[in-house]
Amino acid sequence: MKLINENPSLGVKLPRIQAENSRLQLIKAGLLSKTKKIIRNHNYVYFPITDSSNITKILKDYEYQLDYFDFPEENLKPKVIDKLRSSFPNEPWNEISIKFDQIGEIGLLRLDPQKTTREFRIQVGNEILNSYPKITSVLNKSDITEGINRIFPIEHLAGEKKFESWHKEYGVLIKVDLQRAYFNPRLAEEHRRLSKEVKSGDRILDLFAGVGPFSLHCAKATNCTSIAVDINPYAIQNLTTSINRNKLNGTIIPIIGDAGSIFGIKNYFDRIIMNLPDSSIEYLEYSMNLVKNGGIITFYQFIRKMDKPDEFISALISKQLGKKCDYEILTCRVGREVSPSKVQMNVDLNILKNG
Ligand SMILES: C[S@@+](CC[C@H](N)C(=O)[O-])C[C@H]1O[C@@H](n2cnc3c(N)ncnc32)[C@H](O)[C@@H]1O
Repeated sequence: MKLINENPSLGVKLPRIQAENSRLQLIKAGLLSKTKKIIRNHNYVYFPITDSSNITKILKDYEYQLDYFDFPEENLKPKVIDKLRSSFPNEPWNEISIKFDQIGEIGLLRLDPQKTTREFRIQVGNEILNSYPKITSVLNKSDITEGINRIFPIEHLAGEKKFESWHKEYGVLIKVDLQRAYFNPRLAEEHRRLSKEVKSGDRILDLFAGVGPFSLHCAKATNCTSIAVDINPYAIQNLTTSINRNKLNGTIIPIIGDAGSIFGIKNYFDRIIMNLPDSSIEYLEYSMNLVKNGGIITFYQFIRKMDKPDEFISALISKQLGKKCDYEILTCRVGREVSPSKVQMNVDLNILKNG
C-alpha cells in the first residue's frame, strides 16, 4: 500500500486479529469514515478515520499505526456489481468505471454515456433501487461539471424523477438540489476536518460557498460566525433552508454575490475558505488582505498530476503573494483524484503578516 500522494486520507493500520474489536471502538467513537472503504490484506486491516485527536485513548489497547493511506471511495455494493456482470456479460467491463454516491434519497451514478448503452444504465438504476432501501431516485451525472455555477448534466435512470434531497454529513443536514446547485458528497471529510479546526468566536469567510457545507459544519461545531458567499442564488436559497433546519451553535450570514466584491474590510477574518478549484489561487492576493494576521486561508486548487505537487503549489503561491506578505504553508496535500490526469490540492496557508 502506498502512503501519501495518490488520494491519501487519515487511517489506522491494525493486525487482522485486532481488527474487529478496534472497528467496534472506532464506530462507537464515531470515527470510522463512511465515505471511504476499509482495506484488508493478508496481515493487516486499514480503517479510514475522520479524526485522530482521540485515537491514542480509543485504541490504547491495540497495536495501531496512524498514517495517511490510499483508501478507495465507498462504491456500489459488490453484490450489485456481480448481478450486473451476469446480466450484461457483453458490456466492456474492463473499460467501465461505475462511480456511485448516495445523496440523501438520491443515488447518483457516474456512467459514461459514450461507453454504455441507455438500457444498461437503466438496469443499473433499477438494481440500485432494489438494493438500497433508502434510495427512491437514481440519476446519472452524464457529463462533466461546467459553467460558473459548477453544475452538471443529469440523466434520470430509475425511480422518482427528483433532484432535491436532504443529505446528512456527520449529523449536519444539507439541502441539496443537484439540478440547480453544486454539491459533492465526497468532500464530507474535508468539511468535517476544517470545522474541527475552527474555534469559538472565529470569523469565517466562506467564498464560493455553494449550498454551504463548510459553513454549516463550522456553525454546527462551534459558536463561530461565517459569511457564506455564492454567485448562484439557488445555492444560497438551499443554504438558507439548511440554516433553519439545523440546530447551529454559530451564525451563518448567506450572501448572493460575487466572491471578489468584498471591499472596505481589511485584516478581519480568522479563516477564509476558497473552494473554487479551477481558479481559487487567483483570489489569493485578494483574500490575503481580508484575513487577520495569524489567520488561515484554506483553498482547493486543481493541478495536473505530477511528481512533486507540493513544490508546484508553493511556486504558484509565491508567484501570487511574492513579498506582499509573510506566510507559512501549513499543509499542502493531494485531496482527491479528479480525473486520470488531474488532482485537487488541499492547502492551508497561515498569513503571518499581511501588507
Ligand atoms: C466547487 S463549488 C463549491 C461549493 C461548496 N464550497 C462545497 O464545498 O460544496 C464552487 C461554487 O462557487 C460558486 N461560484 C463560482 N464563481 C463564483 C464567484 N465569482 N463568486 C461567488 N461564487 C462563485 C459556484 O456557484 C459554486 O457554487
